[in-house]
Amino acid sequence: MAVLVTGGAGYIGAHTVKLLRSLGHDVVAFDSLERSHRDSLLGAPLVVGDISNENLVEKTCREHGVTDIVHFAAYKSAGESMLRPGMYWGNNVQGTVHLVEGALRAGVTRLVFSSSAAVYGNPERVPVDEAAAIRPENVYAETKAVMERVISWYGTTHGLRWASLRYFNAAGSADDGSIGEDWTITTNLVPLVMKAALGASGPVLVFGNDYPTPDGTGVRDYIHVEDLAAAHVAALDHLRAGKGDITVNLGTGRGSSVLEVLAATERASGKPVPHEIVARRPGDPAVVFADSSLAERLLGWKATRGLDEIIASAYAWHSKNT
Ligand code: WQD
Repeated sequence: MAVLVTGGAGYIGAHTVKLLRSLGHDVVAFDSLERSHRDSLLGAPLVVGDISNENLVEKTCREHGVTDIVHFAAYKSAGESMLRPGMYWGNNVQGTVHLVEGALRAGVTRLVFSSSAAVYGNPERVPVDEAAAIRPENVYAETKAVMERVISWYGTTHGLRWASLRYFNAAGSADDGSIGEDWTITTNLVPLVMKAALGASGPVLVFGNDYPTPDGTGVRDYIHVEDLAAAHVAALDHLRAGKGDITVNLGTGRGSSVLEVLAATERASGKPVPHEIVARRPGDPAVVFADSSLAERLLGWKATRGLDEIIASAYAWHSKNT
């Protein structure tokens, strides 16, 4: 009953590996280490490889007695995906096909998929529920939507049982400070705010303060990475209990603005965060936050950490790992 965690050395993957092992699960990570670090696994078993290598996937699943997969492995930069779409179609979509083909040959029957709220694009209404229109606005988001369909079709043709989890804005670091987010290559707000707060970069560029929001800056649903990890465990338990295929949003149901993230960081650091208001970033919606009541109803899962805990954990991690 081992769990194969693809992309297990990545940000959310490593936090999920850590939680699964702490709960006694037999885990093996499968990661190319192309954009992640072995140390994030805290000693968990690792097979270094590409999910497109069907034979290696099959061999790994057989050797480790894998019955379930938690699938994180994917490129995830919206901007990069518009410059290098072939990389994203090949790695994210075709890679998922090869992963599932290899896993099915080894007798794997259940898969938890790391999807994204990016599949909704600029949502028609907030809070965003799972019935919202799927209208990706970049190749990365489109690959996530296509990966959901690929996995669903393997359910139809081969009986694969699946759960697709659409994350809103993942942030924060392990409560015990042992692992966190790599800020080396990121365009996401929270790690960039940490860099500015710790003097590791220039001021944070606030993309617009003329949105129709209370303080004029963009509003998002920031969810703690440990809450996300817990949702993956709940989804695995759901599938192992023989319950049906599901697609659920993972968020807190509350939105926080860019300026509120800056204020929370100032509370965590005790000093102002250098920042500068600049023009809007093209394509950014004003307000996005989740209706995650379906995850609560189907999985018995609810986010437990708010913005201050998210920011305090991120600041604690980055303070030690600049
Ligand atoms: C958050 C807010 C920006 C940077 C992205 C991906 C999505 C998902 C989550 C993977 C917005 C503002 C940001 C900065 C800023 N990733 N901002 N200055 O765009 O909501 O979603 O990450 O699944 O796919 O699209 O996250 O962190 O980039 O932006 O003012 O330097 O912070 O305008 O309001 P986003 P983000």
